[in-house]
Amino acid sequence: MTQTILEVTDLTVRYGKAGKHNTAPPAVDHVSFRIERGETVGLVGESGSGKTTIGKAILGLQAVTEGSIVFNGVDVTHASRKERRAHGGDLRAIFQDPFSSLDPRRTIGASLAEPLRIGRVSATEAERRVDDVLQRVRLPAESAQRYPRQFSGGQRQRISIARALITNPSLVICDEPVSALDLSTQAHILNQLADLRRDSDLSYLFIAHDISVVGFLAQRVVVLYRGAVMETGPSSDVTVAPLHPFTRALIAASPVPRPAEQAQRRKGRAELTVGTAAAVSATNAGCPFAARCPFAADVCVTTRPALSRVGQTEVACHGWDPSSGHPGLPSTQARTAVVSTIVAALDPEERPSVEPALTTAPTNGAQK
Ligand SMILES: Nc1ncnc2c1ncn2[C@@H]1O[C@H](COP(=O)(O)OP(=O)(O)OP(=O)(O)O)[C@@H](O)[C@H]1O
Ligand code: SF4
Ligand SMILES: [Mg+2]
Repeated sequence: MTQTILEVTDLTVRYGKAGKHNTAPPAVDHVSFRIERGETVGLVGESGSGKTTIGKAILGLQAVTEGSIVFNGVDVTHASRKERRAHGGDLRAIFQDPFSSLDPRRTIGASLAEPLRIGRVSATEAERRVDDVLQRVRLPAESAQRYPRQFSGGQRQRISIARALITNPSLVICDEPVSALDLSTQAHILNQLADLRRDSDLSYLFIAHDISVVGFLAQRVVVLYRGAVMETGPSSDVTVAPLHPFTRALIAASPVPRPAEQAQRRKGRAELTVGTAAAVSATNAGCPFAARCPFAADVCVTTRPALSRVGQTEVACHGWDPSSGHPGLPSTQARTAVVSTIVAALDPEERPSVEPALTTAPTNGAQK
């Protein structure tokens, strides 16, 4: 039986002053998704699309304007710090820069034990759990006596994973945890996160701008554009046969290690982000992606598309709604031609995950 760990409903966040007089454009705009126990949900989008804001709202680091966040059956939307602390050990985070979460003057052992100290765990038990968690992230036990500067970037990121795991959380928010690392270190860390999830029944909200990284780890994907959900569904559908023009553009933008193929992808990306003169003048009333969409029609400029179901996926695009007046997206064959470079890039052989450590990991299908 599935158990819902996190349920986010119609989440809207506006930065600026609190209350209904805040007219700032929403950084997060009516976003809904849920995470089941043991599941990884990927949140993907360009810079500024609201990914971190969603993570911060879940962690209680950013006030929510509208909507609700239910964690382990408890509504924490407007919970105070004290109320949240009751769930603190159950909800943890890993950020892009491990240096910012590790005190350079404290040993790794002291930094790792800190969340336990707050939870009043005895010194002996804390020491045992530090040893155990270092083992789980495959770092030697003597790491506990060393300082952050004595580790490489990848090792430091392992330490911040250990710090998140030491309280045995049920959900970890991973905000771009590998984007600052080189490709092969990324592969090792992603493999390790996947292993830890399987071993401990953990759930992740995995935030990244690279959809191939998200596709590797997540069972379901949420694609954001300007704070709103454009497409969401099983990773195997969204990253293999994307419906929304923006998702296709994201896949075309995903880096690959071969220059010739990268050039082909760049071409595909340009084709997908030309936009039309009419769409460039799009108002807020229309589709948020209209100004960059090569398939924008009149209805896209005047009416905002709602999320609607196509197969297992939900997509916010008039091109998939025959009653909208949109002539429809190109036929499957034509679409395949437009995105042939993208589809080629989805072959596991062609992904950044081509690094040895990653190719030995199970595929998404096997992780389900
Ligand atoms: N503290 C803040 N005050 C005002 N606006 C903010 C603040 N933090 C973020 N924003 C704005 O909210 C929007 C979403 O930002 P957010 O950091 O959530 O994006 P992101 O998807 O995480 O981007 P990135 O991939 O660059 O990390 C952006 O327009 C950003 O400028
Ligand atoms: S609604 Fe229109 S503009 Fe928006 S993504 Fe679909 S086709 Fe493009
Ligand atoms: Mg961010």
